[in-house]
Amino acid sequence: MEGICKSFPGVKALDNVSFSVNKGEVHGLVGENGAGKSTLMKIMTGVYRADAGEIYIEGKKVNIDSVAKAHELGISIIFQEMTLCRHMTVADNIFIGRPAKKGPLIDDRQMHRDAKKILDDLGIDINTYTMVGKLSVAKQQMVEIAKAISYNARILVLDEPSATLTEREIQQLFGIIRNLQKKGVGMVYISHRMEELSQICERASVIRDGQYIGTRNLKEITMDQLVNMIVGRSLEDKYPKYERKIGDVVLEVRNLKAFNRLPLNVDYFCVRKGEILGISGLVGAGRTEIMRCVFGADKVQTMEVRIDGKPVKIHSPIQAIDNGFAYATEDRKYDGLAQGLDVEYNTNMAHLRQLTKLGFINDREGARNAEKYREMLRTKTPSIRQLVYNLSGGNQQKIVLSKWLCNNARILIVDEPTRGIDVGAKFEIYQLFNRLSDHGVVIIMISSELPEILGMSDRVLVIHDGSINGELETKKTSQEELLYLAAGYNKLEGKAAPVISSRSVS
Ligand SMILES: Nc1ncnc2c1ncn2[C@@H]1O[C@H](COP(=O)(O)OP(=O)(O)OP(=O)(O)O)[C@@H](O)[C@H]1O
Ligand SMILES: [Mg+2]
Repeated sequence: MEGICKSFPGVKALDNVSFSVNKGEVHGLVGENGAGKSTLMKIMTGVYRADAGEIYIEGKKVNIDSVAKAHELGISIIFQEMTLCRHMTVADNIFIGRPAKKGPLIDDRQMHRDAKKILDDLGIDINTYTMVGKLSVAKQQMVEIAKAISYNARILVLDEPSATLTEREIQQLFGIIRNLQKKGVGMVYISHRMEELSQICERASVIRDGQYIGTRNLKEITMDQLVNMIVGRSLEDKYPKYERKIGDVVLEVRNLKAFNRLPLNVDYFCVRKGEILGISGLVGAGRTEIMRCVFGADKVQTMEVRIDGKPVKIHSPIQAIDNGFAYATEDRKYDGLAQGLDVEYNTNMAHLRQLTKLGFINDREGARNAEKYREMLRTKTPSIRQLVYNLSGGNQQKIVLSKWLCNNARILIVDEPTRGIDVGAKFEIYQLFNRLSDHGVVIIMISSELPEILGMSDRVLVIHDGSINGELETKKTSQEELLYLAAGYNKLEGKAAPVISSRSVS
């Protein structure tokens, strides 16, 4: 790609950017939220047309004016935001728009056979008849990969593929990537996780504010130097140092039993004023499910909740919100945001009652509020009137957080709060959590990133198979111990190491 320019109303997303991928190479593409990474890749894959610039494949100039044309040329993309149809089966999704046919009819059996072959080749164990909406986010991601591969891709773009995966699944993904590499597929790998880049990429290119900064061989550059290129300054610490003032117990949950995807069984846990409670465990262990129950979003068989020692009834999210809860969900596209509405509306969505007088919404107050949080989280958007689906992925995540922060919640549940958020903005969010805890807010943080759990929380509950398999003080534990408990072991002593490895800490 040479000299690519692209503007949107109010934003110059790409300014004369050049980029290349070799055959069989995994090329990292990095930059802050809103830097222009996804836009560049959407131009390569025919989603957007560049205002200026040229694209060449094997030296030949090509005109990629549609997604179909890109597919024809062997270019596929796995989007940052899931694009699957939740109410259709896995096979339907993989072959959407081009099902196997028997004469004029769809050959369903053949389609499922083809889908199974692709999944088997990739080493993915998913039934092709399952409804995609029933799959975990991680599994949906794998279906996305299968779908992209099914177009005989020569060039494959993975836009933050690992953001939703656990370490074990990431290793599986890397296995798939290396496989494709052997077949000569050139790949672009977008990620905010620096540790991963050095594992899977040879080279990485950096863009900042729509401008091309440089390409480096990752063997010849330290991660600090790369971060420096990304943010244009150096970052000393990943986690803000902080002494938290922890008070009395605020929230207690007892005797939680529920049957959802898996049976949940939680005897007791509590959170104290000003405390950050980490919730750790493998994807699928039931972390989100347990917290959804506490928030009243899913049915339970039994559950006793006390706030400040007083029993409260929580059968619906509204009751939870009335009791001071907030829940920033992990899947921003599906249940975190109203994608087709603007930043202002989304920010105020959980807060409308406070903005309403005599049945009318106070627009001016709403706009002020949206501006306030945009500044506080440094959300990159040309204005608060921008529609949320036009924002970059990381900036959408900031809107999810704004929505709940402005509700003055006392008990804030955040599910994978920094997924897809760049290194600089992560630090800002952590500082914000610290400020909130200063104000006595209780934060329950579900996270798959062990360094984040260890760096930010005071205590951590490790979830395994729908129950709490251990409670640890973060100061007195280690990644190894967390992983042991997450894998279902009881104690560290004398056990062989589980197969899962931790994300590296630096
Ligand atoms: N369809 C669109 N309409 C208006 N603005 C857009 C559109 N798509 C992207 N933008 C803007 O272009 C800029 C670049 O966005 P892009 O999605 O490429 O960022 P990114 O580098 O992928 O960020 P992230 O790491 O958060 O995913 C952002 O300011 C974004 O708001
Ligand atoms: Mg992006």
